[in-house]
Amino acid sequence: MDDGSRPFSTAALIGTGVMGRGIAQLTAQAGLRTLLYDTRPGAAEAARDGITQVLQQLAAKGRLSSEDAAATASRLIVVTALDDLVSADLIIEAIVERLDVKQALFRELEARVAPTCVLTTNTSSLSVTAIAAALERPDRMAGFHFFNPAPLMKIVEVVAGARTSDATCEALCTLTRAFGHRPVRVKDWPGFLINHAGRAYVTEAMRVLSEGVASAADLDRIMREAAGFRMGPCELLDLTGLDVSHPVMESIYHQFYEEPRFRPSPETQRRLEAGLLGRKSGEGFYRYQDGRAVLAPETPVPNDRPASVWISRADVASGEALAAFVRALPGAIVIEDAAVPSPAALCLVTPFGTDATTAALAQRLDPVRTVAVDMLFGLDGRITLMHTPLTSTAMRRAAQGLIGSGGHAVTMVADSPGAVAQRVAAMIVNVGCDIAQQRIAAPEDIDPAVERGLGYPRGPLALGDALTPARVLQVLEALHWQTGDPRYRPSLWLRRRAALGVSLTTPDRAD
Ligand code: NAI
Repeated sequence: MDDGSRPFSTAALIGTGVMGRGIAQLTAQAGLRTLLYDTRPGAAEAARDGITQVLQQLAAKGRLSSEDAAATASRLIVVTALDDLVSADLIIEAIVERLDVKQALFRELEARVAPTCVLTTNTSSLSVTAIAAALERPDRMAGFHFFNPAPLMKIVEVVAGARTSDATCEALCTLTRAFGHRPVRVKDWPGFLINHAGRAYVTEAMRVLSEGVASAADLDRIMREAAGFRMGPCELLDLTGLDVSHPVMESIYHQFYEEPRFRPSPETQRRLEAGLLGRKSGEGFYRYQDGRAVLAPETPVPNDRPASVWISRADVASGEALAAFVRALPGAIVIEDAAVPSPAALCLVTPFGTDATTAALAQRLDPVRTVAVDMLFGLDGRITLMHTPLTSTAMRRAAQGLIGSGGHAVTMVADSPGAVAQRVAAMIVNVGCDIAQQRIAAPEDIDPAVERGLGYPRGPLALGDALTPARVLQVLEALHWQTGDPRYRPSLWLRRRAALGVSLTTPDRAD
């Protein structure tokens, strides 16, 4: 051990593929001698040369002095046998994702390295506890889970197996900070924290798609332009490739003993069978030409307007906000203020968690003239409208024409409890809450980890706080009631904090 800021002096990277290479760059840049070992002939040399080139490029861009680049490169040492690793005080394994192979490797390593050497695995889907079970001293083994590309993704999960010591995790957290990355301590649970938190976005989106609520392009537009995500769920799946994403969805679902929240959709299974993998196969949810998605232009907003509009006050604040929005639209519009709409009026409702049909019937409105407006993310971005199965084409066009008349982007979707953004956002918050409930990570660590690891604009707990826990609970309870599907049952963490009126990041009191 060295000083407190850098608890190791020699790291050994075993497996110098995509991940091993990125991690080796970090350890060498943090000042550690970095041994590179790979069973594939030439792989470790290729990694050393590749990292050296990256360092030279960083120096050419002025991000690193050329002396630092040369000194860092000189710390990369190729070794050809496990016996050459005896001087390492940190092992980072990034080999093939197979439990038997990893266990065999760690058994061999334990027989060679010093008793104080810390052993880590970069596994993303295997149990750290199961890998460590092969060791005499499992207390010194932990998961050290980086994201690709490791030098740029500034988050590392430090995974405590059932027998991992606190000191092992602490030392790894300290080293992670020396990389300039944020460590997050997590329990050894399927998907750990970040891949677990990422289940809701794509899984719920595939459900919405398979119910025929919206097209892939509309789904993506809503999640980007209303809910603020950088990428829509279908674009994201196209980027990752279904050959990678679909097995992960299945694996996490089964590892949680068929937890309905993570139930994958036949949608991705069929697409995988068809070879519609995404960008890498030239076609997924989108078709790709020269690396770019070929997008059909969006249908323009019609010029139609209703003779008059009646706006529900079943949810008073949302009804008032929608009325104020409509009043501010260009052109004259008759807004009815009677308790009951006139026989020709377009009826706008603002449900949370229920569909337009349920809202229309509950409020004794004519489903032929009823259109729902999703108010969860407000009216500044893209606005989602939702029709009942009976809403007339004239009323749909009138609603689109009216709401889109101020230049607002509008998407009309088919009936769905919670439209699109409500469902997907509520599921993200719910899974985040359950991560807190299962003590997989400290509540204050969940949001920063998800923001860095998944690139979400806000972590799941911050998203829930922004939408208000009570509102998210309302959406989930309505979804649960309307579908009867236990995937929508609210997490107890959410239920309690909504009832108490406190932030979702509130831990249990420890005093
Ligand atoms: P990769 O296939 O690019 O590299 C693996 C390397 O390990 C290869 O160079 C291979 O020759 C070598 N190898 C295989 N068996 C070996 C053994 N017994 N001893 C020494 N070297 C051996 O794979 P990648 O993507 O770098 O993944 C490595 C590990 O990191 C896996 O456990 C994976 O689950 C995990 N991981 C991968 C991420 C990714 O985005 N690719 C993200 C986070 C974790």
